[in-house]
Amino acid sequence: MNPPASTLVHDIGELVTADPGAGGGPLGVLRDAAVAFDGGRVVWIGADGSRAPACDTAVDAAGRCLLPGFVDSHAHLVFAGDRAEEFTARMTGRPYAAGGIRTTVAATRAATDEELRANLRRLLAEMTRQGTTTVECKSGYGLTPAQEERAVRIAAEETDEVTFLGAHVVPPEYDGDAAGYVRAVTGDMLAACAPHARWIDVFCERGAFDGEQTRAVLEAGAAAGLTPRVHAGQLGEGPGVRLAVELGAASADHCTFLSDADVAALASSETVATLLPAVEFSTRQPYPDARRLLDAGAAVALATDCNPGSGYSSSMAFCVALAVREMRMTPAEAVLAATAGGARALRRADVGRLSVGARADAHLIDAPSHVHLAYRPGVPLTAAVWKAGVRRV
Ligand code: NIG
Ligand code: FE
Repeated sequence: MNPPASTLVHDIGELVTADPGAGGGPLGVLRDAAVAFDGGRVVWIGADGSRAPACDTAVDAAGRCLLPGFVDSHAHLVFAGDRAEEFTARMTGRPYAAGGIRTTVAATRAATDEELRANLRRLLAEMTRQGTTTVECKSGYGLTPAQEERAVRIAAEETDEVTFLGAHVVPPEYDGDAAGYVRAVTGDMLAACAPHARWIDVFCERGAFDGEQTRAVLEAGAAAGLTPRVHAGQLGEGPGVRLAVELGAASADHCTFLSDADVAALASSETVATLLPAVEFSTRQPYPDARRLLDAGAAVALATDCNPGSGYSSSMAFCVALAVREMRMTPAEAVLAATAGGARALRRADVGRLSVGARADAHLIDAPSHVHLAYRPGVPLTAAVWKAGVRRV
């Protein structure tokens, strides 16, 4: 493949570097800036585009805002079918329960590889169109060794950030035998999936897996070379967050229900609290208390959790708007959590920021500042997207 053409983006009214040392405020904002991309990387940032290295293409930002591409560090995109009826029932009062996952498991098992691949690509394209340039993708709707292997293999065709989530829910053929299912997950299933995955995840929740089972799966995953991340505190307080911290997980995701001890554990760890407010929107649950986490000093990320059950939004901008409106994050905190925060949750230093050496993942919006992502909810502000220096939108 030819290297991407070099590009100069000039007359940027507000450049969000998401690199706090590089400019003003927590977002490291530079005014009236220009950025050059070459070889898929950011190679130059400055005030005066005429001083930039010569580039093949020039793009006039016309005073608009350029941000790092969003890093969506939590999504479930290998599945078939949808659960619109379940959503409708929830909106008239039925609570979200882990068991709904089985509906998608049945549809996914019945789908062909090509159907799963097409749905995954459709969702990734939808994300790109909204400014997302890095996506984590979980398995978890196959729940047999062959089906989970297929899911992580197909996910790995599209992203480096693949998560094995065999421990999503106990499938029907193991009803009454959760211990037997955990043995399968940590045995044949893990062996089949580990070569395609970077991460291991467990849905640690009532109706899914308890603390002991979660520990068994995460430890087996770690022994197979996968790094833990945990679904924790989505439906109630539980052992998931502290286990995540104890086992050095990259992130504890959801964090909707947290004890004081959970908050303290997160604050004194490298484990990122990944908040997924589109889920609270779609399940009518209370939103996570982002201020409590931030004020305690915990690292926070925002992600979509895009999945057919608990929340089917692929929009990081929607999550930013919810975080500002419903979770009392400032627009700067929310945008940082959706870029550098997501990168931290994926232990990536090359994405989620616009600084020299970073991957040239950038998002130009039809607005003068990042604040408009929350201030203009539901508005398609994305004007241009580059991934590794290649113009995608
Ligand atoms: O992150 N909580 C567990 N897994 C997903 C939901 C999956 C589903 O309902 O299909 C989540 O919310
Ligand atoms: Fe999830």
